[in-house]
Order: sequence, then structure tokens, then C-alpha cells
Amino acid sequence: MGTRNLLVSDLDGTLLGDDAALARFAEWLEARRANVRLVYASGRRFDSIVESINATELPEPDVIVAGVGTEVRWFAGGETLPFWHNRLARRWDARGASAALAHFDDLRRQPAESQSEFKVSYHAEQLPASRLRAIRGALMSAGLSAEVVYSSDRDLDIVPAGAGKGAAASFLAEYWQLPAERVLVSGDSGNDLTMFLRGFRGIVVANAHPELKALAGPNVFRSRFAFADGVLDGLRYWLDEFGESPRYTAFP
Ligand code: GLC
Ligand code: MG
Repeated sequence: MGTRNLLVSDLDGTLLGDDAALARFAEWLEARRANVRLVYASGRRFDSIVESINATELPEPDVIVAGVGTEVRWFAGGETLPFWHNRLARRWDARGASAALAHFDDLRRQPAESQSEFKVSYHAEQLPASRLRAIRGALMSAGLSAEVVYSSDRDLDIVPAGAGKGAAASFLAEYWQLPAERVLVSGDSGNDLTMFLRGFRGIVVANAHPELKALAGPNVFRSRFAFADGVLDGLRYWLDEFGESPRYTAFP
């Protein structure tokens, strides 16, 4: 990997889930770290992500995208990247979003620590597409510009328009002036979907949920390996295209 690349990866169910695989990923990356910008994009809050980095073999990233792409902060220091918040919809109001959805009695609010100024989250199992449309409709009728992100047939996040992991990944690619083909994204569930819709090189791990496994196309690599082994498999696949690493044959 002589040239600069950016990896934006999900954590839970992607880099996290198999400690031995994570150790293999960390070791592989260590030798190439100078040429790779590393970003973790998670639905969790910033502090909870930092705790995981300290408690596991996760390499230290440059930037953390927290709260399903609502916060973009430097890992060292924790400051928000300049200009990020300006991108989020002005017509956003977390209380208004909660109020607009109050009558949906199949939505259970996630605990207080999962809520933020820019993210309103619920649990709701097996929501059909019609129900998601009704939720979007209720937010629109309340005059809110919001994105509705549904993951793992369970987690429902309402975030401002302009937020989301994909928007954050694009923001960072622009910030570091990297073309789309130098940006690799990896994930396992619905909140990762927007990262795959921006022309970046995608890696879907084998243990992904159906909503992500359904992705196909020239920019999607579906690994037959799970968790961090799948991410590593995908990195080798994509970076080999540039003649920068040996063709991957068998793992490990
Ligand atoms: C993380 C967050 C949760 C969110 C989910 C899916 O688990 O803690 O609030 O709903 O990711 O984005
Ligand atoms: Mg995940």
C-alpha cells in the first residue's frame, strides 16, 4: 500500500466479534499504518467506542464517527472536526422527532445513554417496510428533515438529514482529499448501508445481516470470512487491484 488509503469500518459485528481475527487484522495493519487513514464508524457513543479501543486489540484510529454518523471527532483529543456540524440539517429537533413518533406504540425508546442531541433511538423488532414508510411520513409531516436508519431488524435510529455513516465517510474523504477508489468501507448491518452507496470500495463480512448481504455490484466485495477476518480479506482483495499486496489465496 504505497499510496494513501482510507478505511472506514464499523465495529460491532464487523471488526469486533472474534478476538483472534481482530489480532490478525491489527497485526496486518500495523505494518501499513503509515499509509492508511483509519476511521471507526459506529452507532455507539464516542466514549463507549474509546472504551472498546482501550479494552481490545483495536488499533488506535485517526477519527471516530460516533452515533450513526452524527459525531465526527478526532480520536486523540476528542475534538469535533471543523465544519462537520454545519452539514447537519437545520430543520432538526430531537424533541420534535420524539414527539412525532410518540404514537407509534411498537417503538421502545433505547436507554438514555443511547440518545443524543442528534440521535433519537428505539428498539423495534421486525419492522416491515410499510411501517418504516409511516415513520418517515410522520417525521416529514412534523416538518423535520430526518433520516431513518433501521439495523439488524431491531435498532431504529432517527438522525438529521445530512448525517449517517456514508455522509461522514464522504466528508472525511473530502477532508483528506482522497478519491472514492481510495476509500474502503466495511460493515455488517443496516446502519452501514449508506457507506456502500457512495462509490467507495465496500467490504461485507460473512456474518452480515440480510440487509447488507443483499448488496451486490462492482463496488461490493462479499467476504466468505466473518468479522475482522472478513475485513482483512476485503482489504487484501481491494488493495491487490493496485498491485500493492500479494493476491490473497487462503486464510490465514
Ligand atoms: C449501537 C447504538 C444504538 C443504535 C445501534 C444501531 O448499538 O448503541 O443506539 O441503535 O448501534 O445503529
Ligand atoms: Mg455493526
